[in-house]
Amino acid sequence: MDIAEAINRRKSIRAFKPDTVPQQILKEIMELALRAPSWANTQPWEFAIVSGRKLEEIRQAYIEKAEELPNPDLAAPRQFPEPFDTRRRAVGIKLFEIMGISREDRERRREWQLQGLRLFEAPSVIYIYVDRSFYLQGDSLNVWPVFDCGLIAENIMLLATKYALGTIPEIQAVLYPDVLRRILGIPDSKLIVLGIAVGYPNWDDPVNQFQSQREPLDIVTKWHGFD
Ligand SMILES: Cc1cc2nc3c(=O)[nH]c(=O)nc-3n(C[C@H](O)[C@H](O)[C@H](O)COP(=O)(O)O)c2cc1C
Repeated sequence: MDIAEAINRRKSIRAFKPDTVPQQILKEIMELALRAPSWANTQPWEFAIVSGRKLEEIRQAYIEKAEELPNPDLAAPRQFPEPFDTRRRAVGIKLFEIMGISREDRERRREWQLQGLRLFEAPSVIYIYVDRSFYLQGDSLNVWPVFDCGLIAENIMLLATKYALGTIPEIQAVLYPDVLRRILGIPDSKLIVLGIAVGYPNWDDPVNQFQSQREPLDIVTKWHGFD
């Protein structure tokens, strides 16, 4: 599969088959993903890759936490100024439409939220974390390790498509980092950035028909010196 095909195929998957992802495949993906660039080759990323009973334990603990306020290591945006809010809302509106969940149906909306906390039933997840001392520097933030995590996250997700695997990068996966620290033994000196749920997509589930839109290139780009 060439890179353009992988980019075209990748999209966030929100319903998975229960089939296990072989550890060997995850290893192959991760070995190659490590070729991602990073600030001065600092390679700030670390991973916890979880499957089976351990993942069930996390799912269970997350559901028990669901009524508590989330406390992610990296705070969610406080505001979404325009045009970001409109783009963000479009995802929710379309997803609920595809699933036939109405605005008023609070119960099904809540259920859907819980599905996110349950990693959409993916059989495996890759948590990415960084060293706290590299990100928090006195009273300022060094955002670059997190930026670098984004680069390797995309590598992972593109490589997964080669194995017919689906992925979704999920902030929902890291909303309760204390749970992950306890179950996975991740020390306080690490900040948990993101979880990527990985598994074989359930293409029969309508939610996986959702295709997010992009702004046209001309809206987000200015060209200089090409005349
Ligand atoms: C950092 C990050 C966190 C995300 N967290 C969630 C999440 O918690 N739940 C979810 O359903 N989608 C999540 N997404 C997926 C985005 O909604 C998705 O990438 C976006 O709508 C574009 O769609 P696409 O991935 O299908 O191209 C996240 C994406 C990123 C990059």
